[in-house]
Amino acid sequence: MGDTIIMVIGCGTMGSGIITSFLSNPRHKLLIVENNVSMLQKISITDPTLLQTIQKNGHVQINDRITAIKDLSQDFSKFGKPRVIVEALPERMDLKKELYKRIEEVFPQDVIVGSNTSTLPLQQMADWFKYPERFVGMHYNHPAHIVPIVEVVKLARTDPNVVSQVIQLLEQSGKVPVLLKKPIDGFITNRLQHALYREIYALMEDDSISAEDVDKVGKYMFGPRMSVTGLLLQKDCSGLDTHTFAQREMVKVLANNRICGSVLENKFKTKELGLKSGKGFYDWNGTGDPNQVQNEVNNRLIKLYDFLNDKNIPYHPQQSKL
Ligand SMILES: NC(=O)c1ccc[n+]([C@@H]2O[C@H](COP(=O)([O-])OP(=O)(O)OC[C@H]3O[C@@H](n4cnc5c(N)ncnc54)[C@H](O)[C@@H]3O)[C@@H](O)[C@H]2O)c1
Repeated sequence: MGDTIIMVIGCGTMGSGIITSFLSNPRHKLLIVENNVSMLQKISITDPTLLQTIQKNGHVQINDRITAIKDLSQDFSKFGKPRVIVEALPERMDLKKELYKRIEEVFPQDVIVGSNTSTLPLQQMADWFKYPERFVGMHYNHPAHIVPIVEVVKLARTDPNVVSQVIQLLEQSGKVPVLLKKPIDGFITNRLQHALYREIYALMEDDSISAEDVDKVGKYMFGPRMSVTGLLLQKDCSGLDTHTFAQREMVKVLANNRICGSVLENKFKTKELGLKSGKGFYDWNGTGDPNQVQNEVNNRLIKLYDFLNDKNIPYHPQQSKL
């Protein structure tokens, strides 16, 4: 089997992680499109001569697996045909629309296009395409090179074969894809996350629990338990009768507000934005370089995922059928 060419457009926060994850498979060759070449430093490309060459010529071969391109005005026949294009442009409809128009001009209809958008309307974006069969949502989670879950979203006219190919490619780059059979606002990850945070902020607003104790519950109860059994398998283990009785009672008392919790809104108003501003739910002053703190968090996550990738544990997510 030959090499697979993957094109990633946008090498920012998400694009750089997506590129790194595809590079984990030695059979993947990357075509990176980034109009601000200094962003290539995000994937450790710092050689000034390479950056100057791309500025001057519009493209440069960084090594035998990575070529960087400034925009889609090139003759692409010399780079080979990508199997999939992952778009990770800033969250702006106008930019994405212009790019997709260009993609349709340049690449034949069998080249798959996936968007990493978090909040823009994927179905509307699919409808821009002359060949919407080729378009899927590919929602990575931050940091994209570490978190394995990628939500693959099938739109009304996405070809099922395209969905299967994307899932296969993601698995070949060490990811754990989940299929959303139709677009849902916020995907599954954000919906679950915000349902939980709505409850947390309601309890904090009521002064029932501290930030530290919320985190203890996350770290020492949900986190480890979910890592082993997921969400529903755990309920199979504990019994669905008990779960039904509990759910019937609990839904009566859960927060159901439709506005953002005041605990969070107040932090936002006073610019307590967390690590980056020195204070959030915790006081970060005196803890040193925020990047180092973030790196330490990432390193621990990597260790945890390494452990979870051990196929000898009783249940491994990659054993599940999609
Ligand atoms: N940041 C997150 O946590 C996160 C999580 C999931 C999904 N997303 C989604 O991923 C996408 C990218 O977000 P991000 O946070 O990486 O943004 P970003 O601003 O960090 O990166 C965007 C990159 O695109 C480049 N760019 C802009 N216009 C371009 C063009 N015409 N051609 C080539 N490159 C161009 C920019 O220079 C920049 O490097 C968005 O759709 C966002 O919703 C973000």
